[in-house]
Amino acid sequence: MVFLKTDRGGDYMRSENYKSGNDEKSEEIRLQKYLAQCNVASRRAAEKMITDGRVRVNGDVVTVLGTKVSPGDIVEVDGSPVYEEKKKVYIMLNKPVGYVTTVSDDEDRSTVMELVDDIPQRLYPVGRLDINTEGLLLLTNDGDFMQKVTHPRNEKKKIYQAVISGIPDHYEIEKLERGVYIDGRKTSPAKAELISAQDGKALVELTIHEGRNRQVRKMFEAIGYRVVYLRRLAVGNVILGNLPLGKWRRLNPNEVAYLMKG
Ligand code: URA
Repeated sequence: MVFLKTDRGGDYMRSENYKSGNDEKSEEIRLQKYLAQCNVASRRAAEKMITDGRVRVNGDVVTVLGTKVSPGDIVEVDGSPVYEEKKKVYIMLNKPVGYVTTVSDDEDRSTVMELVDDIPQRLYPVGRLDINTEGLLLLTNDGDFMQKVTHPRNEKKKIYQAVISGIPDHYEIEKLERGVYIDGRKTSPAKAELISAQDGKALVELTIHEGRNRQVRKMFEAIGYRVVYLRRLAVGNVILGNLPLGKWRRLNPNEVAYLMKG
């Protein structure tokens, strides 16, 4: 679908590959932070594990919050050793259609995790794209990043391109912008632009600031159109660029910092 290609201006972050080196310094860290870094639990839940007496360091139960651990210390939770997943990883995937955004699927469908299984760390998707949607999906092993990016207060704009069956007029496009009712609640103001129309289909770029379930499809349904193709181009100023479908790349430090700030 050649007519989907959009050339974006300069107000977007550069998206060249960034690979961080293995130069992180080993140092003492607080036990609850260590447990969070090992993806055992959130920092708060880890604190409770410690005060509940479930954590041992070098064989001794530790119940004092703030106890420091060093590389080489053996940390166990409920008798099982835990290991630090050394590096925090932040990636974007160009998700193809046909993959479910989940860590494991009850129905045994392909998941996005299969597309990032060359990364040793255990990753989790940040937000979701539905199975029929392509495009920019973030994944990380950093719980703080996950929380910050998905917190409604930090909600960044999300830019989608949708091909719909039928060609909406100016008033219908404006309706999308003012807000339509989906699942009984009005959507917040959005930006919508008819990019092109051909063969009874239209390409519309829609920028929204919420992340409700199947929101874009439902917004078009609300004005009487069916989405036949959907892809996410950007989350805030972080853009998919020319990342090939099914491939991933690391976010660069500017992108990580930008996404984490409110
Ligand atoms: N809106 C949708 O309809 N689907 C997505 O995957 C994301 C936004």
